[in-house]
Amino acid sequence: MFSLANKAAIVTGGASGIGLAIARRFLAAGASVLIADRRAEGETIARVVQAEFFQVDVAHEEQVAAMCDAARKHFGRLDILVNNAGIQPLGIGFGELTDDILRRTLDVNVHGVAFGIKHAGRVVSDGGRVINTASFVGTLATPGGAAYSTSKAAVIHLTKLGAIELAPRRITVNAVSPGTILTPAVTGIANNPEIPFIQRRTPLGRPGQPEEVAALCHFLASDEAAYITGQNIGIDGGLTAGWTEYDLIAPSNVRNGRWIDDQ
Ligand SMILES: NC(=O)c1ccc[n+]([C@@H]2O[C@H](COP(=O)([O-])OP(=O)(O)OC[C@H]3O[C@@H](n4cnc5c(N)ncnc54)[C@H](O)[C@@H]3O)[C@@H](O)[C@H]2O)c1
Repeated sequence: MFSLANKAAIVTGGASGIGLAIARRFLAAGASVLIADRRAEGETIARVVQAEFFQVDVAHEEQVAAMCDAARKHFGRLDILVNNAGIQPLGIGFGELTDDILRRTLDVNVHGVAFGIKHAGRVVSDGGRVINTASFVGTLATPGGAAYSTSKAAVIHLTKLGAIELAPRRITVNAVSPGTILTPAVTGIANNPEIPFIQRRTPLGRPGQPEEVAALCHFLASDEAAYITGQNIGIDGGLTAGWTEYDLIAPSNVRNGRWIDDQ
């Protein structure tokens, strides 16, 4: 069940955090994995987990195309592309937004996914999988998300468009939308106020772990998920289910456990 044996996968942003957890999980399920990352130290990380490595800046289409070609050449096939690489310029409202921040965020987070889907359509085998890492802030407007949240909203819509276009070849395209996950992007910020906020605000009372997102991606990558496409699946401890607090009192119609209609 959920075996990825004989499948070949690319995980972008695979040298850290959620991407590294996905790469490890796919390897454990029997897949061959190419970790693709902008940072050269990804090569050492890939060697340790016994994956291949390709240095890529997903903001550039020609590099995304070369990454896909390299994986297919090396493995002889490509079944799964996880478009996970992303930058996270949170805490930047419209007042602080600059041309540079907005352009780089859209280049990495949106162009990277759009051209990932395009080249998956060229090189991924029929019946393959594309999984895009979006975020809960792609559907829930949050302060300080002028660039980042916008980019993740685009990822969710690109996912639907990709799903429709690649459906004739049984390639599924889905997005995962994590809540706050304890990766270097989050834990690397000293005294990050996001962590206690999320503990208070999330129904399950804690941030998530990268391995929990990887487990969801594993399922979506498996043969068992063949009928799921075009979806954005939240993995956020209930964060987007609703509010954890709401100051209310029952109306006077409620007496002794019964509803008394107005007279
Ligand atoms: N951590 C969270 O709370 C959280 C929540 C929701 C969504 N996400 C998303 O999950 C994904 C992974 O985030 P993470 O928290 O693991 O971050 P991370 O910073 O730990 O890892 C991101 C990896 O992507 C790589 N990368 C960055 N820009 C790149 C580029 N242009 N080309 C290729 N590689 C690039 C980095 O080098 C790094 O290895 C991102 O898309 C992020 O937006 C994270």
